[in-house]
Amino acid sequence: MGAGTGITAVLLVLLAIVAPSARGLDRADFPPGFLFGAATSAYQVEGAYQEDGKGLNNWDVFTHTHPGNIRDGRNGDVADNHYHRYMEDVEIMHKLGVNSYRFSISWARILPSGRVGGVNPAGIDFYNRLIAALLQKGIEPFVTLHHFDLPQELETRYGSWLGAGIREEFDYYADVCFQAFGDRVKLWTTFNEPNMFIKQAYMLGRYPPNHCSPPFGNCNSGNSQREPYVAAHNILMSHAAAVKNYNKNYKVKQGGSIGIIISMKFYEPLTNTTEDILAAQRAQSFEIHWFLDPIFFGEYPKEMREMLASNLPEFTQAEKSLLQNKVDLIGINHYTAIYAKDCVSSPCNLKTYEGNALVFATGERDGVQIGKSTALLGFYDVPEGMEQILKYVTQRYGNTPIYITENGYSQHSSNNMEAMLNDIDRVNYLRGYLSSISSALRRGANVRGYFVWSLIDNFEWLFGFTVRFGLYHVDLATQKRTPKMSAEWYRDFLTGSELVDKVQDLRADS
Ligand code: BGC
Repeated sequence: MGAGTGITAVLLVLLAIVAPSARGLDRADFPPGFLFGAATSAYQVEGAYQEDGKGLNNWDVFTHTHPGNIRDGRNGDVADNHYHRYMEDVEIMHKLGVNSYRFSISWARILPSGRVGGVNPAGIDFYNRLIAALLQKGIEPFVTLHHFDLPQELETRYGSWLGAGIREEFDYYADVCFQAFGDRVKLWTTFNEPNMFIKQAYMLGRYPPNHCSPPFGNCNSGNSQREPYVAAHNILMSHAAAVKNYNKNYKVKQGGSIGIIISMKFYEPLTNTTEDILAAQRAQSFEIHWFLDPIFFGEYPKEMREMLASNLPEFTQAEKSLLQNKVDLIGINHYTAIYAKDCVSSPCNLKTYEGNALVFATGERDGVQIGKSTALLGFYDVPEGMEQILKYVTQRYGNTPIYITENGYSQHSSNNMEAMLNDIDRVNYLRGYLSSISSALRRGANVRGYFVWSLIDNFEWLFGFTVRFGLYHVDLATQKRTPKMSAEWYRDFLTGSELVDKVQDLRADS
Protein backbone atom coordinates (compact mmCIF):
# COMPACT_ATOMS: atom_id res chain seq x y z
CA MET A 1 0.00 0.00 0.00
CA GLY A 2 1.50 3.43 -1.02
CA ALA A 3 1.61 6.36 1.44
CA GLY A 4 -1.19 8.14 -0.47
CA THR A 5 -3.45 5.07 -0.38
CA GLY A 6 -2.69 4.69 3.32
CA ILE A 7 -3.76 8.25 4.09
CA THR A 8 -6.92 7.82 1.98
CA ALA A 9 -7.82 4.61 3.82
CA VAL A 10 -7.35 6.38 7.17
CA LEU A 11 -9.50 9.27 5.96
CA LEU A 12 -12.19 6.86 4.81
CA VAL A 13 -12.26 4.99 8.09
CA LEU A 14 -12.46 8.29 9.96
CA LEU A 15 -15.28 9.43 7.73
CA ALA A 16 -17.07 6.14 8.33
CA ILE A 17 -16.79 6.59 12.09
CA VAL A 18 -17.43 10.30 12.44
CA ALA A 19 -19.86 10.77 9.60
CA PRO A 20 -21.92 7.62 9.58
CA SER A 21 -24.97 9.28 8.07
CA ALA A 22 -23.22 10.51 4.94
CA ARG A 23 -25.92 8.89 2.83
CA GLY A 24 -28.58 10.94 4.62
CA LEU A 25 -28.04 13.87 2.27
CA ASP A 26 -28.68 13.56 -1.41
CA ARG A 27 -28.28 15.97 -4.28
CA ALA A 28 -31.74 14.89 -5.39
CA ASP A 29 -33.08 16.68 -2.27
CA PHE A 30 -32.38 19.91 -4.16
CA PRO A 31 -34.44 21.12 -7.12
CA PRO A 32 -33.18 20.74 -10.69
CA GLY A 33 -31.19 23.78 -11.75
CA PHE A 34 -30.05 24.42 -8.16
CA LEU A 35 -26.62 26.03 -8.24
CA PHE A 36 -23.92 24.32 -6.26
CA GLY A 37 -20.68 26.25 -6.18
CA ALA A 38 -17.76 27.59 -4.25
CA ALA A 39 -16.84 31.22 -3.64
CA THR A 40 -13.79 33.48 -3.43
CA SER A 41 -13.15 37.21 -3.57
CA ALA A 42 -10.66 39.22 -5.60
CA TYR A 43 -8.40 40.57 -2.86
CA GLN A 44 -8.35 37.26 -1.02
CA VAL A 45 -7.15 35.14 -3.96
CA GLU A 46 -5.95 37.10 -6.98
CA GLY A 47 -2.57 38.52 -5.99
CA ALA A 48 -0.86 40.32 -8.94
CA TYR A 49 -1.49 43.47 -6.97
CA GLN A 50 0.59 45.72 -9.19
CA GLU A 51 0.39 43.96 -12.51
CA ASP A 52 -1.09 44.81 -15.88
CA GLY A 53 -2.20 48.30 -14.97
CA LYS A 54 -4.11 47.49 -11.77
CA GLY A 55 -4.34 50.43 -9.35
CA LEU A 56 -3.68 50.10 -5.64
CA ASN A 57 -6.74 49.46 -3.54
CA ASN A 58 -7.55 50.21 0.10
CA TRP A 59 -6.52 46.71 1.28
CA ASP A 60 -3.18 46.88 -0.61
CA VAL A 61 -2.39 50.10 1.20
CA PHE A 62 -3.76 49.10 4.60
CA THR A 63 -1.88 45.78 4.72
CA HIS A 64 1.36 47.54 3.71
CA THR A 65 1.01 50.45 6.11
CA HIS A 66 -0.37 48.43 9.04
CA PRO A 67 1.17 44.94 8.79
CA GLY A 68 0.87 44.68 12.57
CA ASN A 69 -2.91 44.74 12.21
CA ILE A 70 -2.84 41.46 10.25
CA ARG A 71 -2.31 38.46 12.50
CA ASP A 72 0.64 37.04 10.51
CA GLY A 73 1.71 40.36 8.98
CA ARG A 74 0.91 39.05 5.50
CA ASN A 75 -1.08 40.63 2.68
CA GLY A 76 -2.79 39.90 -0.61
CA ASP A 77 0.14 40.91 -2.87
CA VAL A 78 0.38 37.34 -4.13
CA ALA A 79 -2.38 35.58 -2.17
CA ASP A 80 -3.24 32.42 -4.16
CA ASN A 81 -1.88 33.90 -7.36
CA HIS A 82 -5.28 33.15 -8.87
CA TYR A 83 -4.67 35.93 -11.40
CA HIS A 84 -2.09 33.69 -13.04
CA ARG A 85 -3.45 30.32 -11.96
CA TYR A 86 -7.12 30.81 -12.77
CA MET A 87 -7.07 28.05 -15.40
CA GLU A 88 -5.88 25.55 -12.81
CA ASP A 89 -8.55 26.80 -10.40
CA VAL A 90 -11.26 26.41 -13.03
CA GLU A 91 -10.02 22.86 -13.59
CA ILE A 92 -10.30 22.24 -9.83
CA MET A 93 -13.91 23.47 -9.92
CA HIS A 94 -14.63 21.23 -12.86
CA LYS A 95 -13.25 18.24 -10.96
CA LEU A 96 -15.37 19.16 -7.96
CA GLY A 97 -18.44 19.08 -10.17
CA VAL A 98 -19.73 22.54 -9.24
CA ASN A 99 -22.03 24.25 -11.72
CA SER A 100 -21.34 27.78 -10.51
CA TYR A 101 -18.46 29.90 -9.21
CA ARG A 102 -18.90 33.03 -7.15
CA PHE A 103 -16.09 35.56 -7.46
CA SER A 104 -15.72 39.31 -7.13
CA ILE A 105 -14.25 41.83 -9.52
CA SER A 106 -11.37 43.97 -8.37
CA TRP A 107 -12.60 47.54 -8.92
CA ALA A 108 -9.00 48.83 -9.03
CA ARG A 109 -8.15 46.34 -11.79
CA ILE A 110 -10.98 47.71 -13.94
CA LEU A 111 -10.77 51.41 -12.99
CA PRO A 112 -7.32 51.89 -11.39
CA SER A 113 -8.12 55.35 -10.06
CA GLY A 114 -11.87 55.48 -10.38
CA ARG A 115 -13.94 57.16 -13.07
CA VAL A 116 -11.46 59.87 -13.98
CA GLY A 117 -8.58 57.56 -14.89
CA GLY A 118 -10.50 55.44 -17.39
CA VAL A 119 -10.84 51.71 -17.93
CA ASN A 120 -7.85 49.35 -17.79
CA PRO A 121 -8.23 47.01 -20.80
CA ALA A 122 -5.99 44.35 -19.22
CA GLY A 123 -8.40 44.17 -16.27
CA ILE A 124 -11.36 43.61 -18.57
CA ASP A 125 -9.33 41.03 -20.43
CA PHE A 126 -8.56 39.04 -17.25
CA TYR A 127 -12.20 38.66 -16.29
CA ASN A 128 -13.14 37.88 -19.91
CA ARG A 129 -10.63 35.04 -19.88
CA LEU A 130 -11.86 33.78 -16.51
CA ILE A 131 -15.51 33.90 -17.61
CA ALA A 132 -14.70 32.12 -20.89
CA ALA A 133 -12.83 29.36 -19.04
CA LEU A 134 -15.76 28.90 -16.64
CA LEU A 135 -18.39 28.78 -19.36
CA GLN A 136 -16.33 26.36 -21.36
CA LYS A 137 -16.62 23.95 -18.41
CA GLY A 138 -20.32 24.62 -17.94
CA ILE A 139 -19.73 26.68 -14.77
CA GLU A 140 -22.04 29.66 -14.31
CA PRO A 141 -20.30 32.87 -13.17
CA PHE A 142 -21.91 34.51 -10.12
CA VAL A 143 -20.33 37.94 -9.79
CA THR A 144 -20.02 40.40 -6.91
CA LEU A 145 -19.01 43.95 -7.76
CA HIS A 146 -17.72 45.03 -4.36
CA HIS A 147 -16.17 42.65 -1.83
CA PHE A 148 -14.46 45.11 0.57
CA ASP A 149 -11.75 46.41 -1.84
CA LEU A 150 -11.97 49.69 -3.75
CA PRO A 151 -9.41 51.92 -5.50
CA GLN A 152 -7.23 53.74 -2.96
CA GLU A 153 -7.78 56.91 -4.93
CA LEU A 154 -11.47 56.79 -3.99
CA GLU A 155 -10.69 55.83 -0.41
CA THR A 156 -8.60 58.98 -0.14
CA ARG A 157 -10.97 61.20 -2.05
CA TYR A 158 -14.24 60.19 -0.35
CA GLY A 159 -13.15 58.38 2.83
CA SER A 160 -14.45 55.36 0.92
CA TRP A 161 -18.19 55.41 1.60
CA LEU A 162 -18.49 58.63 3.59
CA GLY A 163 -18.71 61.11 0.73
CA ALA A 164 -21.84 61.04 -1.42
CA GLY A 165 -19.61 61.35 -4.53
CA ILE A 166 -18.80 57.65 -4.20
CA ARG A 167 -22.33 56.84 -5.43
CA GLU A 168 -21.60 58.03 -8.95
CA GLU A 169 -18.25 56.24 -8.89
CA PHE A 170 -19.92 52.95 -8.06
CA ASP A 171 -22.70 53.48 -10.59
CA TYR A 172 -20.07 54.11 -13.27
CA TYR A 173 -18.00 51.06 -12.26
CA ALA A 174 -21.09 48.82 -12.23
CA ASP A 175 -22.05 50.11 -15.69
CA VAL A 176 -18.59 49.28 -17.08
CA CYS A 177 -18.97 45.73 -15.74
CA PHE A 178 -22.54 45.20 -16.99
CA GLN A 179 -21.45 46.43 -20.40
CA ALA A 180 -18.26 44.36 -20.54
CA PHE A 181 -19.45 41.08 -19.01
CA GLY A 182 -23.25 41.12 -18.87
CA ASP A 183 -23.72 39.22 -22.13
CA ARG A 184 -22.27 36.20 -20.27
CA VAL A 185 -22.76 36.97 -16.57
CA LYS A 186 -26.40 36.41 -15.59
CA LEU A 187 -26.12 36.63 -11.83
CA TRP A 188 -24.96 39.89 -10.29
CA THR A 189 -24.66 41.14 -6.75
CA THR A 190 -23.72 44.73 -5.99
CA PHE A 191 -22.18 44.45 -2.50
CA ASN A 192 -20.85 41.69 -0.29
CA GLU A 193 -21.83 42.06 3.37
CA PRO A 194 -22.02 45.85 3.57
CA ASN A 195 -23.65 45.40 7.01
CA MET A 196 -20.52 43.63 8.28
CA PHE A 197 -17.68 45.59 6.71
CA ILE A 198 -19.24 48.97 7.48
CA LYS A 199 -19.18 48.15 11.18
CA GLN A 200 -15.60 46.87 10.96
CA ALA A 201 -14.52 49.99 9.04
CA TYR A 202 -16.46 52.84 10.70
CA MET A 203 -17.60 51.57 14.08
CA LEU A 204 -14.86 49.23 15.35
CA GLY A 205 -12.05 50.81 13.27
CA ARG A 206 -10.56 47.48 12.22
CA TYR A 207 -10.92 47.55 8.41
CA PRO A 208 -9.76 50.49 6.26
CA PRO A 209 -10.30 53.41 6.56
CA ASN A 210 -10.05 52.51 10.31
CA HIS A 211 -12.46 55.05 11.72
CA CYS A 212 -13.91 54.81 15.20
CA SER A 213 -14.53 56.68 18.43
CA PRO A 214 -15.11 55.72 22.10
CA PRO A 215 -16.61 53.53 23.47
CA PHE A 216 -15.91 51.38 20.38
CA GLY A 217 -12.23 52.25 20.10
CA ASN A 218 -9.66 55.03 19.83
CA CYS A 219 -8.91 55.79 16.20
CA ASN A 220 -7.26 58.83 14.65
CA SER A 221 -10.58 59.89 13.24
CA GLY A 222 -14.17 58.80 13.09
CA ASN A 223 -17.48 58.83 14.89
CA SER A 224 -18.77 55.36 15.68
CA GLN A 225 -22.25 56.67 16.49
CA ARG A 226 -22.78 58.37 13.16
CA GLU A 227 -20.37 57.36 10.37
CA PRO A 228 -21.47 53.73 9.99
CA TYR A 229 -24.97 54.93 9.11
CA VAL A 230 -23.77 57.63 6.71
CA ALA A 231 -21.55 55.11 4.92
CA ALA A 232 -24.39 52.56 4.82
CA HIS A 233 -26.73 55.19 3.40
CA ASN A 234 -24.27 55.89 0.56
CA ILE A 235 -23.91 52.17 -0.07
CA LEU A 236 -27.67 51.68 -0.21
CA MET A 237 -27.98 54.49 -2.73
CA SER A 238 -25.00 53.23 -4.76
CA HIS A 239 -26.65 49.82 -4.83
CA ALA A 240 -30.01 51.29 -5.84
CA ALA A 241 -28.47 53.35 -8.66
CA ALA A 242 -26.69 50.29 -10.07
CA VAL A 243 -29.89 48.23 -9.86
CA LYS A 244 -31.85 50.97 -11.62
CA ASN A 245 -29.28 51.11 -14.39
CA TYR A 246 -29.23 47.33 -14.75
CA ASN A 247 -33.02 47.07 -14.81
CA LYS A 248 -33.38 49.87 -17.32
CA ASN A 249 -30.52 49.23 -19.69
CA TYR A 250 -29.35 45.64 -19.41
CA LYS A 251 -31.78 43.25 -17.81
CA VAL A 252 -34.08 42.57 -20.75
CA LYS A 253 -31.29 42.55 -23.32
CA GLN A 254 -28.98 40.36 -21.23
CA GLY A 255 -31.56 38.30 -19.35
CA GLY A 256 -29.86 38.41 -15.96
CA SER A 257 -30.71 39.06 -12.30
CA ILE A 258 -29.28 41.37 -9.67
CA GLY A 259 -29.27 41.54 -5.88
CA ILE A 260 -27.19 42.19 -2.78
CA ILE A 261 -25.44 39.97 -0.22
CA ILE A 262 -26.03 40.41 3.51
CA SER A 263 -24.12 38.77 6.35
CA MET A 264 -26.62 37.05 8.64
CA LYS A 265 -25.96 35.45 11.99
CA PHE A 266 -28.90 33.81 13.66
CA TYR A 267 -29.45 35.46 17.06
CA GLU A 268 -31.10 33.31 19.69
CA PRO A 269 -32.20 34.94 23.00
CA LEU A 270 -29.78 33.95 25.78
CA THR A 271 -32.67 33.43 28.20
CA ASN A 272 -36.44 33.41 27.75
CA THR A 273 -36.83 36.79 29.45
CA THR A 274 -38.62 39.50 27.49
CA GLU A 275 -35.40 41.56 27.62
CA ASP A 276 -33.29 38.92 25.87
CA ILE A 277 -36.07 38.13 23.37
CA LEU A 278 -36.18 41.82 22.46
CA ALA A 279 -32.38 41.93 22.37
CA ALA A 280 -32.30 39.10 19.81
CA GLN A 281 -34.86 40.95 17.69
CA ARG A 282 -32.84 44.15 17.94
CA ALA A 283 -29.64 42.38 16.94
CA GLN A 284 -31.42 40.84 13.93
CA SER A 285 -32.76 44.25 13.01
CA PHE A 286 -29.35 45.95 13.17
CA GLU A 287 -27.89 43.06 11.16
CA ILE A 288 -30.53 42.36 8.48
CA HIS A 289 -33.29 44.98 8.45
CA TRP A 290 -30.72 47.81 8.30
CA PHE A 291 -30.13 47.05 4.63
CA LEU A 292 -33.04 44.88 3.50
CA ASP A 293 -35.84 47.03 4.93
CA PRO A 294 -34.85 50.09 2.83
CA ILE A 295 -34.45 47.84 -0.21
CA PHE A 296 -37.81 46.10 0.28
CA PHE A 297 -39.90 48.68 2.15
CA GLY A 298 -38.13 51.99 1.43
CA GLU A 299 -37.41 52.82 5.12
CA TYR A 300 -34.96 52.01 7.90
CA PRO A 301 -36.40 49.77 10.64
CA LYS A 302 -38.32 51.40 13.45
CA GLU A 303 -36.00 49.98 16.14
CA MET A 304 -32.97 51.61 14.54
CA ARG A 305 -34.72 54.95 14.15
CA GLU A 306 -35.77 54.91 17.82
CA MET A 307 -32.29 54.12 19.08
CA LEU A 308 -30.18 56.14 16.67
CA ALA A 309 -32.44 59.17 16.19
CA SER A 310 -30.76 61.78 13.98
CA ASN A 311 -27.58 59.70 13.59
CA LEU A 312 -29.57 57.59 11.14
CA PRO A 313 -30.01 59.50 7.87
CA GLU A 314 -33.48 60.08 6.40
CA PHE A 315 -34.29 59.08 2.84
CA THR A 316 -35.22 62.02 0.63
CA GLN A 317 -38.14 61.59 -1.80
CA ALA A 318 -35.67 61.16 -4.68
CA GLU A 319 -33.79 58.47 -2.73
CA LYS A 320 -37.02 56.68 -1.90
CA SER A 321 -38.01 56.56 -5.52
CA LEU A 322 -34.56 55.20 -6.45
CA LEU A 323 -35.10 52.44 -3.89
CA GLN A 324 -38.24 51.39 -5.78
CA ASN A 325 -35.93 49.49 -8.15
CA LYS A 326 -36.44 46.00 -6.89
CA VAL A 327 -33.81 43.30 -6.46
CA ASP A 328 -34.24 39.88 -8.08
CA LEU A 329 -32.35 37.95 -5.44
CA ILE A 330 -31.08 38.05 -1.87
CA GLY A 331 -27.61 36.66 -1.14
CA ILE A 332 -27.16 35.31 2.38
CA ASN A 333 -23.76 34.68 3.94
CA HIS A 334 -24.46 32.53 6.95
CA TYR A 335 -21.85 30.92 9.18
CA THR A 336 -23.12 30.82 12.75
CA ALA A 337 -25.82 31.22 15.34
CA ILE A 338 -25.11 33.02 18.60
CA TYR A 339 -26.93 33.98 21.81
CA ALA A 340 -28.10 37.57 22.32
CA LYS A 341 -28.07 39.14 25.78
CA ASP A 342 -29.81 42.40 26.57
CA CYS A 343 -27.60 45.34 27.61
CA VAL A 344 -30.39 47.82 28.36
CA SER A 345 -31.50 46.17 31.59
CA SER A 346 -28.00 45.26 32.78
CA PRO A 347 -24.69 46.78 31.69
CA CYS A 348 -22.30 44.85 29.45
CA ASN A 349 -19.25 45.37 27.28
CA LEU A 350 -20.48 47.35 24.30
CA LYS A 351 -17.20 47.57 22.37
CA THR A 352 -18.44 44.73 20.21
CA TYR A 353 -20.02 44.01 16.82
CA GLU A 354 -23.52 44.08 18.36
CA GLY A 355 -22.75 46.91 20.80
CA ASN A 356 -24.59 49.53 18.73
CA ALA A 357 -27.79 47.51 19.18
CA LEU A 358 -27.17 47.38 22.97
CA VAL A 359 -26.71 43.64 22.69
CA PHE A 360 -23.92 41.38 23.89
CA ALA A 361 -23.43 38.24 21.81
CA THR A 362 -22.07 35.13 23.44
CA GLY A 363 -21.58 31.55 22.35
CA GLU A 364 -22.27 30.15 25.83
CA ARG A 365 -25.35 29.56 27.90
CA ASP A 366 -24.84 28.18 31.42
CA GLY A 367 -21.35 27.04 30.47
CA VAL A 368 -22.57 25.10 27.43
CA GLN A 369 -21.58 26.23 23.93
CA ILE A 370 -24.25 26.86 21.31
CA GLY A 371 -22.33 24.56 18.97
CA LYS A 372 -18.87 23.19 18.35
CA SER A 373 -16.39 26.05 18.01
CA THR A 374 -14.38 26.66 14.85
CA ALA A 375 -11.06 28.48 14.37
CA LEU A 376 -12.69 31.91 14.11
CA LEU A 377 -13.75 33.25 17.48
CA GLY A 378 -17.54 33.51 17.71
CA PHE A 379 -18.17 31.10 14.80
CA TYR A 380 -19.88 27.87 15.88
CA ASP A 381 -21.25 24.85 14.07
CA VAL A 382 -25.02 25.24 14.52
CA PRO A 383 -26.68 23.84 11.40
CA GLU A 384 -30.27 24.53 12.59
CA GLY A 385 -29.43 28.24 12.45
CA MET A 386 -29.45 28.02 8.66
CA GLU A 387 -33.05 26.84 8.53
CA GLN A 388 -34.04 29.48 11.07
CA ILE A 389 -32.45 32.27 9.08
CA LEU A 390 -34.10 31.06 5.85
CA LYS A 391 -37.47 30.98 7.60
CA TYR A 392 -36.89 34.47 9.00
CA VAL A 393 -35.89 36.03 5.68
CA THR A 394 -38.73 34.33 3.82
CA GLN A 395 -41.29 35.54 6.35
CA ARG A 396 -40.07 39.12 6.28
CA TYR A 397 -39.11 39.61 2.64
CA GLY A 398 -41.43 37.20 0.82
CA ASN A 399 -40.64 34.81 -1.92
CA THR A 400 -37.62 36.58 -3.45
CA PRO A 401 -35.11 33.95 -4.66
CA ILE A 402 -32.34 33.35 -2.13
CA TYR A 403 -28.78 32.21 -2.75
CA ILE A 404 -26.59 31.07 0.10
CA THR A 405 -23.60 32.97 -1.21
CA GLU A 406 -21.25 31.90 1.61
CA ASN A 407 -21.16 29.15 4.21
CA GLY A 408 -18.05 27.42 5.44
CA TYR A 409 -15.81 26.18 8.19
CA SER A 410 -12.51 27.66 9.44
CA GLN A 411 -9.53 25.64 10.64
CA HIS A 412 -6.28 26.90 12.18
CA SER A 413 -3.29 26.85 9.85
CA SER A 414 -0.71 24.23 10.67
CA ASN A 415 2.35 22.68 9.09
CA ASN A 416 0.88 19.27 9.78
CA MET A 417 -0.37 18.50 6.30
CA GLU A 418 -2.25 15.40 7.35
CA ALA A 419 -4.21 17.40 9.91
CA MET A 420 -4.96 20.10 7.35
CA LEU A 421 -6.22 17.61 4.77
CA ASN A 422 -8.12 15.50 7.25
CA ASP A 423 -10.85 18.12 7.76
CA ILE A 424 -13.60 15.85 8.96
CA ASP A 425 -15.08 18.70 11.03
CA ARG A 426 -15.58 20.68 7.82
CA VAL A 427 -17.29 17.68 6.22
CA ASN A 428 -19.66 17.45 9.18
CA TYR A 429 -20.27 21.19 9.12
CA LEU A 430 -21.08 21.28 5.40
CA ARG A 431 -23.28 18.21 5.57
CA GLY A 432 -25.21 19.64 8.51
CA TYR A 433 -25.79 23.02 6.87
CA LEU A 434 -26.78 21.47 3.52
CA SER A 435 -29.26 19.22 5.32
CA SER A 436 -30.68 22.28 7.03
CA ILE A 437 -31.12 23.98 3.64
CA SER A 438 -32.84 20.92 2.22
CA SER A 439 -35.21 20.94 5.17
CA ALA A 440 -35.93 24.66 4.60
CA LEU A 441 -36.60 23.90 0.92
CA ARG A 442 -39.17 21.28 1.92
CA ARG A 443 -40.86 23.96 4.02
CA GLY A 444 -41.09 26.29 1.04
CA ALA A 445 -37.98 28.52 1.24
CA ASN A 446 -37.13 29.78 -2.25
CA VAL A 447 -33.42 28.87 -2.17
CA ARG A 448 -31.79 28.66 -5.60
CA GLY A 449 -28.13 28.03 -4.89
CA TYR A 450 -25.37 27.34 -2.38
CA PHE A 451 -21.71 28.38 -2.40
CA VAL A 452 -19.12 26.95 -0.04
CA TRP A 453 -16.69 29.50 1.35
CA SER A 454 -14.15 28.87 0.06
CA LEU A 455 -12.82 27.07 -2.98
CA ILE A 456 -9.21 27.44 -1.84
CA ASP A 457 -7.49 28.59 1.37
CA ASN A 458 -7.04 32.33 1.04
CA PHE A 459 -6.14 35.63 2.69
CA GLU A 460 -8.58 35.83 5.60
CA TRP A 461 -8.53 39.64 6.12
CA LEU A 462 -7.25 40.52 9.62
CA PHE A 463 -6.31 36.87 10.21
CA GLY A 464 -4.04 36.70 7.16
CA PHE A 465 -3.34 33.06 6.38
CA THR A 466 -3.56 31.87 10.00
CA VAL A 467 -7.09 30.64 9.41
CA ARG A 468 -8.14 28.52 6.46
CA PHE A 469 -11.55 28.04 4.88
CA GLY A 470 -10.63 26.19 1.66
CA LEU A 471 -11.91 22.92 0.27
CA TYR A 472 -8.43 22.88 -1.25
CA HIS A 473 -5.30 23.42 0.79
CA VAL A 474 -2.90 25.98 -0.67
CA ASP A 475 0.82 25.73 0.04
CA LEU A 476 1.84 29.38 0.12
CA ALA A 477 5.47 28.65 -0.85
CA THR A 478 4.68 26.54 -3.91
CA GLN A 479 1.05 27.54 -4.57
CA LYS A 480 0.22 23.85 -4.83
CA ARG A 481 -3.49 23.11 -4.42
CA THR A 482 -4.34 19.84 -2.66
CA PRO A 483 -7.89 18.59 -2.10
CA LYS A 484 -8.90 18.19 1.52
CA MET A 485 -11.30 15.48 2.60
CA SER A 486 -14.09 18.07 2.35
CA ALA A 487 -13.31 18.61 -1.35
CA GLU A 488 -13.65 14.90 -1.95
CA TRP A 489 -16.83 14.77 0.09
CA TYR A 490 -18.36 17.74 -1.80
CA ARG A 491 -17.33 16.22 -5.14
CA ASP A 492 -18.90 12.91 -4.23
CA PHE A 493 -22.07 14.57 -3.02
CA LEU A 494 -22.26 16.52 -6.28
CA THR A 495 -21.24 13.83 -8.69
CA GLY A 496 -22.56 10.66 -7.13
CA SER A 497 -21.09 9.32 -3.96
CA GLU A 498 -17.82 7.59 -4.81
CA LEU A 499 -16.28 8.35 -1.40
CA VAL A 500 -19.57 7.68 0.34
CA ASP A 501 -19.76 4.30 -1.45
CA LYS A 502 -16.18 3.52 -0.45
CA VAL A 503 -17.11 4.28 3.14
CA GLN A 504 -19.99 1.81 2.90
CA ASP A 505 -17.67 -0.82 1.38
CA LEU A 506 -15.14 -0.34 4.15
CA ARG A 507 -17.88 -0.76 6.72
CA ALA A 508 -19.07 -3.94 5.01
CA ASP A 509 -15.50 -5.30 4.98
CA SER A 510 -14.87 -4.63 8.63
C1 BGC B 1 -16.55 37.40 3.91
C2 BGC B 1 -15.37 36.61 3.40
C3 BGC B 1 -14.62 36.01 4.57
C4 BGC B 1 -15.55 35.05 5.28
C5 BGC B 1 -14.93 34.32 6.46
C6 BGC B 1 -17.28 36.76 5.06
O1 BGC B 1 -17.48 37.73 6.03
O2 BGC B 1 -17.42 37.72 2.87
O3 BGC B 1 -14.57 37.46 2.63
O4 BGC B 1 -13.44 35.41 4.19
O5 BGC B 1 -16.69 35.73 5.75
O6 BGC B 1 -14.60 35.19 7.47
